[in-house]
Amino acid sequence: MSKKIYIETYGCQMNFSDSEIVASVMTSHHAKIAGSPEDADVILLNTCSIRDNAEQRVVNRLRALQHLRKRRPGLLIGVLGCMAERLKEELLEEKTPGLRVDLVAGPDAYRQLPELMADAETGQKAINVLLSADETYADISPVRYTPGGVSAFISIMRGCENFCAYCVVPFTRGKERSRDPRSVVTEARRLVAEGYREVTLLGQNVNSYRWKENGSGKITGFSELLGMVASVDPRLRVRFATSHPKDMSDELLHRMADHPNICKAIHLPMQSGSSEVLKRMNRKYSREDYLDRIAAIKRILPGCGLSTDIIAGFCGETEEEFEETLDLMDKAGFDFAFMFKYSERPGTRAAEKYTDDVPDAVKTRRLTAIIDKQQALSMESNRKDVGKTMEVLTEGPSKRSGQMMMGRTTCNKVVVFPDQGYQPGDYVRVKITGCSAATLKGESANED
Ligand code: SAH
Ligand code: SF4
Ligand code: F3S
Repeated sequence: MSKKIYIETYGCQMNFSDSEIVASVMTSHHAKIAGSPEDADVILLNTCSIRDNAEQRVVNRLRALQHLRKRRPGLLIGVLGCMAERLKEELLEEKTPGLRVDLVAGPDAYRQLPELMADAETGQKAINVLLSADETYADISPVRYTPGGVSAFISIMRGCENFCAYCVVPFTRGKERSRDPRSVVTEARRLVAEGYREVTLLGQNVNSYRWKENGSGKITGFSELLGMVASVDPRLRVRFATSHPKDMSDELLHRMADHPNICKAIHLPMQSGSSEVLKRMNRKYSREDYLDRIAAIKRILPGCGLSTDIIAGFCGETEEEFEETLDLMDKAGFDFAFMFKYSERPGTRAAEKYTDDVPDAVKTRRLTAIIDKQQALSMESNRKDVGKTMEVLTEGPSKRSGQMMMGRTTCNKVVVFPDQGYQPGDYVRVKITGCSAATLKGESANED
């Protein structure tokens, strides 16, 4: 009998990509994908542990889902992903009364989901949190959430061994491993054949992608892989995330310059503008190194989009160190940033070695100042685009108004423009006529 599975995803793009693997494993075992939790025999939450509030969201969701058990006896609720890996058996122990979980599977255990589900159905303990040194799911063809969509993710590697002091990912995702470049190219070809117009290559630190061919010993690095994917079709846009400043090479920037279809946007998480804080964070680059990378981007790829991640209030962060973050933001001139308050994660180096000593009120104040600064930088960057004409890849109707379409520029900026019968996937030349800090507005400059 075919079961209906509902998958809900939290966290990063990697997790969204993994949910497509889970959907593929399950549908090839005769399961069907349910449209809502109410309609499902099995509810799987693919979870994130990056900050405490990410975990709290999942706990609240698990609590809210329990009432469905009354309506559907035999309903199974499972936890996948990083929280499964971090909390393991603890999740099955029903620590909070009534908060029951039937199945726990870590990020490298998705091939075993059908067996785990069979165990859970018979009331056995269903848990697999083994991390693998070589699992890349390379042979699994992901089931896309958005068939007929415009943009898709391709995971090119898994795991992380950088051990940034604040970060839980090396513990939840295990060893870094790269996927066979041929399987990456095959997946990109398949996506093009299905009508996709954009792919994003994913890894925690794509710059350390490295594949060694058995036999010949030939090594493929990230720049080469990127070139291979860009050569699949000149009309396919190619993006990637995330770059680690310590390993982002000039070679990569030149490769981006060589291929017009490699999008001119780089996500380069800075975390902090202070060399001392970066040292405590174990990021392995200094403020000067970061500035050197920014200068290389501006030299080799003028006009390239630039985004970042910033943490406010890491252990021991002084007022001066925080000011250095604001200053580095100005110097880099980011178009966009993800900004967070430091959240201590159990088991990480920071939790063991340092004290989480910046008071919450100070973290909040610093985060607010960082957000305000970024708002001004985004506005300034968007204002400079007013008057220019840009190529936009249409994604679909704008959320605000059905008469407007939205799409993105190569620099990853969102553009809203009047719908003149465009379809998702159309490339449209748009003249930018106005902006807010978050969006560019424009009108079609296509020649009829
Ligand atoms: N691999 C990527 C980042 C993955 S996590 C990289 O190395 O850049 C995404 C972002 O979450 C990080 O860049 C960092 O800014 C933030 N982050 C990670 N751990 C955190 C923590 N404990 N508290 C607050 N923010 C955190
Ligand atoms: Fe976490 Fe650092 Fe790895 Fe990124 S590179 S996932 S921040 S340990
Ligand atoms: Fe979260 Fe795991 Fe991604 S902790 S950010 S889902 S790798």
